[in-house]
Amino acid sequence: MTEPHAPDFSDDNKRRGFIVKIAAIIVGGVTSIIPAIFAGGFFLTPLLKKKEDSAETDGFVRVGSSASLVPGGPPLAFKIRGIKKDAWTTYAEADIGSVYVKMDAEGVLTAFNATCTHLGCTVNFKAEENSFACPCHDSAFAFDGTRTNEIPPRHMDALDVELRNEDELWVKYESYRAGTSEKIPV
Ligand code: FES
Repeated sequence: MTEPHAPDFSDDNKRRGFIVKIAAIIVGGVTSIIPAIFAGGFFLTPLLKKKEDSAETDGFVRVGSSASLVPGGPPLAFKIRGIKKDAWTTYAEADIGSVYVKMDAEGVLTAFNATCTHLGCTVNFKAEENSFACPCHDSAFAFDGTRTNEIPPRHMDALDVELRNEDELWVKYESYRAGTSEKIPV
């Protein structure tokens, strides 16, 4: 049988109580912060990953060989294969667009996104007129990509292009919003 005893108000007992309270606060804080960190990481991962990806690839994709380009000749169309991604999902490799690449008589390369700046159809190269035209609403562009009628709001979108490893054509593929006079990346 337990003997009744007077409450212990000694300094030691107060200190013990204080330490127990502090320990409870720390443990409680840690157990609620850890899930929050994991949840934050889950939601932010796609954004952080996007940054890593762009740093790794530098945005350039290999589109083909320069061997088939004739200096001073017509542009050639190349499909762009890539991995489609949105913020959460990565899709299998697929066609994501196309580009025209040409080489002038001095060997200087030029590339255009083949997407019409009017409303996004694919522009054709008309060899007989040495110019570009869009079949959807008749946008017309000169050989150098400048618009030649008032239908498209801007010229064809020029892209960076490089020759690597002697004959590999690499294009920095970027898409821009159609229907605006400004070149706005999408
Ligand atoms: S989408 Fe090309 S002319 Fe309209």
